[in-house]
Amino acid sequence: MEQRYVASLWHPQTIQTCTKRGLLERFCRLLRNKFAHLGWGRHLFILNALAEHRQPLLPADATLLGAAAADDVARFLRHRPNHVPTPLHLLPALAAELGVGSIAVKDEGHRLGLGSFKALGGSYAVICLVLEAAARHLGRRVDVGELHDPAVRSIASRITVACATDGNHGRSVAQGAQFVGAQSVIFVHEGVSEERAAAIARFGARIIRVDGNYDDSVAEAARVAADTGWLTVSDTSWPGYEHIPGLVMQGYVALVREALRDLPEPPTHVFLQAGVGGFAAAVAGHLAVLLGDNRPTVTIVEPLRAACVLQSARARQPVRVKAGPPTVMAMLECYEPSLVAWRILSRVADAFMTIDDADAIAMMNRLARPSAGDPAIVSGESGGVGLAGLVSIAGDASVRDALRLDGRSRVLVVNTEGATDPVQYRHFVGLDPAAVAGQEMTRSN
Ligand SMILES: Cc1ncc(COP(=O)(O)O)c(C=O)c1O
Repeated sequence: MEQRYVASLWHPQTIQTCTKRGLLERFCRLLRNKFAHLGWGRHLFILNALAEHRQPLLPADATLLGAAAADDVARFLRHRPNHVPTPLHLLPALAAELGVGSIAVKDEGHRLGLGSFKALGGSYAVICLVLEAAARHLGRRVDVGELHDPAVRSIASRITVACATDGNHGRSVAQGAQFVGAQSVIFVHEGVSEERAAAIARFGARIIRVDGNYDDSVAEAARVAADTGWLTVSDTSWPGYEHIPGLVMQGYVALVREALRDLPEPPTHVFLQAGVGGFAAAVAGHLAVLLGDNRPTVTIVEPLRAACVLQSARARQPVRVKAGPPTVMAMLECYEPSLVAWRILSRVADAFMTIDDADAIAMMNRLARPSAGDPAIVSGESGGVGLAGLVSIAGDASVRDALRLDGRSRVLVVNTEGATDPVQYRHFVGLDPAAVAGQEMTRSN
C-alpha cells in the first residue's frame, strides 16, 4: 500500500535528498506512526491499495444505495412537514486560493430543523420499520402515505426504538419516533454534552447516560434493547445486524441527489468525513452506482485520534483502534468502522487521510469568516472536516498528483452539521451561530 505523510516534521521532499533514503524514510515513518497520537506527523495520507478497490459494489449494496432507493427516500421526505432541500454554496475565493476549479458545499446544517445530515437517516429508518411492522400486522404492503391512519398509528404506538448516539443520530431517531407516534430511548455516553442530550429529549425521548465512550453506549443500547424487545436503530452495523443501519445509510442518499441536481456538472473529487463510515459510504456508494467509471475521486477524512477507517485500510480488514483522548470532532469519535460501510468504502474510497483538532477548529472559523466573495457558513466541529482535509493537502504536490487534483477539479464537500452544540460553537468561533447565519442569508440574497 502506498503511504504518504504530509505537512509534518520530515517532509518527503526533505527525505529524498538524504542518502540511504529508503532506510531513513522507513525509520521516519516508524517514528511518526509511533508518536502520531502526540501530534507528530499530524496528517496521515494513504491511497487505497486493497484488492477490492474499484470493484463494483455487491449487488445488495448497489440496490441499497441505487437510484430507485433515492426515489423512495425522496418520496418519504415529501411526507415530512419540515422538509426543504438544503442549500449548495459555491466558494470561488477558496477554490482560487487552493488551486482547484470549484468548491461546492452542500450545507446540511439546515436539514429538517435538526442541524445535521443525520436527520435524513435515523428518522427514515424509524419510518421504514413502522411500515414494515404495519405490513406484518395487516398482511399487506403499507405505504408511507398511510402513516397517519389510525391502524398504523396504533401499531407504531406499541413500538419502542432505541439507539446510542454522539448526539445527531439520536436526535434523528427521536424525531422520527415522535413523527410516527412511537417511543424512543436514546443512550448517550459520557462525552455527550448536556446541550446535545437536551436537544434529543425535546422530541420526547427518554435519555439514558452510559459510562464510557461511543462504542460502550452502542454495546449498552444493543444489550438493553435485546432484553426489553426494543428495536435498535443503530447507525453502525456489525455481523448479523445490517438491515437497519443499511436503511439509515439509504436515507442519506437524498443529499447527494439534491447536490447533483444543483451542480452544473458532477464533481470530480469528494472529500468525506467519517465516523463509523456510514455517511461517506452512502455518498460515495450512491455516486459510484450512478456515475460508474466517471465517479469522482473519493478521499475519506478522519480525526487523527479516531481514524478507524484509515487504520482498517492499512490493516486490510476492519479493525478497532485504541481509544485515546477525546477529539473536538465529537461526532467522528468512533473506534471501529461499520461493517456495511467498510464493505462499500473498501471498494469506492480512493484515499484515506487524517486531520487534527486544530484543523477542524480552523475550518469552523474560516467558514464563519470566509474570504471575500464567499458565503459565510455555520459549521459545527465535525461539519467542515471534509473541506479541512482538502485544505490540508492542497499545498502538497505529491498528494495533488496522486489524487489528480488540479485547477480544473470540481470538488464537492458536505457541511454535515451546523452549530448542533451552540455553546461549543461560540467557544471555538467566538461568534453567535445566529449572527453567522444572518450573514449567510444576507450574502445569498
Ligand atoms: C455531523 C456529523 N458528521 C459526520 C458524521 C459521520 O458519520 P458516520 O458515523 O456515518 O461516518 C456524523 C456522525 O454522527 C455526524 O454527526
